[in-house]
Amino acid sequence: MGAQFDTSACRPQDLGKFEITDRDGVSRLGRLFTNHGVLETPMLLPVVNPNIRTIEPREMWEEFGVQALITNSYVIWKHEKLRTPALENGVHELLDFPGVIVTDSGTFQSYVYGDIDVGVKEIVAFQRDIGVDIGTMLDVFGRPDQSIGELREAVNQTVERAPESLEEAGSNLLLNGPIQGGLHDFLRSESAEKMGSVSGDFRGFTVHPIGGIVPLMEQHRYLELVKIILAVREKIPINSPIHLFGCGHPMLFPMSISLGVDLFDSAAYALFARDGRLLTPHGTVRIENLKEWPFTSRILNGISPSEVREMEENERTDLLARYNLEITQAELAKCREAIRSGKIWSLVEQRSHSSPQLREAYLFLKDRLSLNNDFSSSEIISSSSPVRSGSERWTSDSKSRPHLLHANMLIRERWNPPLTNWKGGIIEKPGVLLVLSGRTPWRDSVKSDIIRSLSKNPNLIPMIQTPNGLLPYDLEDWAPLCHIQSFDSIWSTLPIPSDETLRELGLDPSNLSILQSSDEVVEKEIRSQIFSWLEQSQISAKCSVFLRASRESTAEWLENMTVDRSSTGRIRNVFTADGRHVLSPRLRDGGISLTNEGAKDLHSLGEGPPRLVLEKDAIPFVRDGRNVIHGFIEQVDDEIIPGLACLIVDSDGDLVAHGISKCTSNEIMQFNKGIAIRTRGGIKIQESK
Ligand code: GUN
Repeated sequence: MGAQFDTSACRPQDLGKFEITDRDGVSRLGRLFTNHGVLETPMLLPVVNPNIRTIEPREMWEEFGVQALITNSYVIWKHEKLRTPALENGVHELLDFPGVIVTDSGTFQSYVYGDIDVGVKEIVAFQRDIGVDIGTMLDVFGRPDQSIGELREAVNQTVERAPESLEEAGSNLLLNGPIQGGLHDFLRSESAEKMGSVSGDFRGFTVHPIGGIVPLMEQHRYLELVKIILAVREKIPINSPIHLFGCGHPMLFPMSISLGVDLFDSAAYALFARDGRLLTPHGTVRIENLKEWPFTSRILNGISPSEVREMEENERTDLLARYNLEITQAELAKCREAIRSGKIWSLVEQRSHSSPQLREAYLFLKDRLSLNNDFSSSEIISSSSPVRSGSERWTSDSKSRPHLLHANMLIRERWNPPLTNWKGGIIEKPGVLLVLSGRTPWRDSVKSDIIRSLSKNPNLIPMIQTPNGLLPYDLEDWAPLCHIQSFDSIWSTLPIPSDETLRELGLDPSNLSILQSSDEVVEKEIRSQIFSWLEQSQISAKCSVFLRASRESTAEWLENMTVDRSSTGRIRNVFTADGRHVLSPRLRDGGISLTNEGAKDLHSLGEGPPRLVLEKDAIPFVRDGRNVIHGFIEQVDDEIIPGLACLIVDSDGDLVAHGISKCTSNEIMQFNKGIAIRTRGGIKIQESK
């Protein structure tokens, strides 16, 4: 298994850089560049006690796919029999581990046992000298039960020790800069801000662990844990990995990852094994009374719980520790896969039922997200791509999924009713034609009824009531809003939207009719006029919501447009009156793609997707169709949304390319490694003039 990881050192200029390769909101798949390979996150660093190796590091590497581990440099420093060989041959040889080695500094020992006898610079120098990849400075542990004064002191002392620690680390040792502050949001965020802005001769802190949380985890105080994560995320540089120090119960992975945590470490796999406890993604299971294993496992396959109970103690601990490591790795793989498939929040919802305390933490988060009146919630929502193929399995929690909240926000902020009706008359006061059917696709189930209704009352705007709220009919194929899977009684009991909701969308609540089905025949000519009005409205709604082009400009731009269609009659490509292909509605997810011609038109209209200014050196490459790389962007508009289009311009504002963003505006200005924008089309010089 270990052979899958390349342990070669990264290029010197990449050391300590972190890039994001995939995301679901603020949960991310990242790559941290080190001297022993690229560490792929989210991941857990198993704690290896260099004196008691429950599972040999080499076995972790070869059999369990462990790419990086954490050990304690203070323990190595303290024991002569470890210190000398570590200094002579390096920590990788001492532990017999070829991957990334992270070390802690002794802070935790000082929390457990009182004072320790090593200096701030001495312990960093030692980590550097034994060849550690990512070391930890000697921070001051802040306990949750301490007074504000004591916690402030822990934060300040840690910050004071930071510059000398970075200096001692030199060019080759990456450092963890822990965040302290107990249960106080203001201290946590102050600590994050200060630790995040310390700069060294070579670099600042590479990783920011959130420290002082072990007592919270021991007491299952997950609500407080979530509040701390939210408080620090506001201030930790967005391009630094976040580590939860001492957190390793698989039950906590999805929720922490959904809030942007990248690294975990824990000795739980070994400690729990010692007293006969098994980790599972749903909580802890004691082996005492088990007759059968309530899960499948490679390690426990072929052996029964009673046989395990009868084993000699060391043998049993070894076996259970291996199982605990196996399940830990499996849950992390599940989280990573959930990020790739855009399902991290549905995993969070499932896992939130594992314990009352976890559910309490989740319910708090759900409320915060629904209110969306603080920095973290708005960051989580606005970084969640609102267009994604696939379906949405509906539960009572689903409404708070960030990508759905984001979709609703875009409808509220960017969607407007069409300006004219199918007869060409101005719609002064748009009424509502409410669709209360859950039979999708709506274009098949209700279109004829809509046409019938509009033939009589042209000033009604068809709107679909869904469990997620109102969806304008002109966005009826927007995935996943068009694929909500829930049982019939949910659809049949959806409420009529409030007057306020309708007014917010520019609709007149006093003119609301509910769509009825009937067999009445509408004259062919009228039917085709309404049909083509509905199609036009669909294109212009998508331009407003996904491309930020107003209905007014789109109406002018696409006057007398022509289209070509798929075999099922859906519009595949849109052409301007002079025959240029400008847009392609996507049948896969209901979004809309720009062509080069389309991007040029929106750019010259002065409207359209948000823009970013590319650095001069990168322009020829991007014009040639290469992706936009972080570090080559000079300036960026607000409102860049992952998964949606953006325009790439030079410093004179001329169009260079258009693409789909992989990140937010804030991330664009802070990351310095990885792809920022997937270029969809480069504009050649002669083309742009
Ligand atoms: N391990 C668990 N918690 C902490 C902490 O707050 N600081 C350090 N350095 N290590 C830890």
